[in-house]
Amino acid sequence: MRLPPATLEAAARVLRANDRGGWTVPARDLYPFQWNWDSALVALGWRRLDEARALRELASLLAAQWPCGMVPQIVFHRPDPRYFPGPEVWRTDRTPPTSGITQPPVLASCLARLVARARDRALVEAGARQLLPAIERWHRWFHEVRIDPATGLVVTVHPWETGMDDSPLWDEPLARVPTPQGLRLERRDLVAVPADQRPKMAHYRRFLALVLRFRTWRWDQRRMAAQSPFRVADPTTHLLLLAAERDLEALARRLGVLDPEAIAARTARLEGAIRRHLQDPESGFIHAFDLVAGRRLAARAACAFLAFRAGLATPGLTRALMAWLAAVPFPLPTVHPTDPAFERRRYWRGPVWPVLDRLVAWGLEGEPAARLAAVVAELIRRFGFREYHDPLDGRGLGGRDFSWTAALALDWLADG
Ligand code: DGY
Repeated sequence: MRLPPATLEAAARVLRANDRGGWTVPARDLYPFQWNWDSALVALGWRRLDEARALRELASLLAAQWPCGMVPQIVFHRPDPRYFPGPEVWRTDRTPPTSGITQPPVLASCLARLVARARDRALVEAGARQLLPAIERWHRWFHEVRIDPATGLVVTVHPWETGMDDSPLWDEPLARVPTPQGLRLERRDLVAVPADQRPKMAHYRRFLALVLRFRTWRWDQRRMAAQSPFRVADPTTHLLLLAAERDLEALARRLGVLDPEAIAARTARLEGAIRRHLQDPESGFIHAFDLVAGRRLAARAACAFLAFRAGLATPGLTRALMAWLAAVPFPLPTVHPTDPAFERRRYWRGPVWPVLDRLVAWGLEGEPAARLAAVVAELIRRFGFREYHDPLDGRGLGGRDFSWTAALALDWLADG
């Protein structure tokens, strides 16, 4: 066990305090609703405490699935004035209200882990059988609705869909998003977190401008995929979808449900598109692709290392990982410290995120995996369950009592 029992008990208290009855808020003051990939990862923490509750977390998220198959980024179960933009801005006309975009698909991988580690196998397998058709429909939506026909890449239409909102990966493609005059922008996030740890106003204006434009298109997902002024292929979405498709196929075979051959066929197509368009043939590094400009972007971010989880490792990528691990006292920095875009305290522009370390380590073995686990365990012991940290001195940043950080302590940094 890497974390002492008292820390694991504190992690369980965080989840219980953030539990709203079948769904969990990521952080009380900053994110007071249900977020898509947060919930899936939080279910892994619940599995240590109560497997039925873990399954309910996933079911409550999937209950908000759109008829087209999309599982939304936020479910606004009940009103809360602490977050902007709330449902009155999105106006997606769903019950319960939701945002109109998605997030990186980790649900299938989390469910696969619940099944693999089940204590009550009958309960968890029965739950999985019920959830799998909706997850499969969501994956299919990426392939059929959010697809760029020219490249075979999945189209991401908003930086919030990547989970890495203000990453330097998006600076160039986001710069061409027009911001209308008189945009009414409220930064309620700055009540809970200092401004130098959150995305800059210039980013936020464009985040909101995209929401307002899609609203005028009545959230027509095909039109968004074809015409959004921000259209990128995101490394995180692609690499996690590839891993999730493999996990879905394995679950389908194990439980005798769905059509594993169809899942395998589209997984192979996705892998081909990633290798062709996102992976640099020389360095092996995974880049974002600007679908509006029609080219791979030069910017680099730590999400490239999710390639290990997706089975796309190369010797060059392994060398890059070693360099990023050695670059700061508390890796992984989300942006390399020698990159001019690096900011040690600002959100996705440099800080180390326990959740990204956990997702990267999920695809690693041996020393690098052990190093990431040791780093995150130390950060939690010293600074609590924070959203992210300064990679140079480890100081906690962003939200406090953060659910997915508590969950990964229970799931990853406890024994077994
Ligand atoms: C936010 O509001 O900061 C979130 O990252 C959106 O998902």
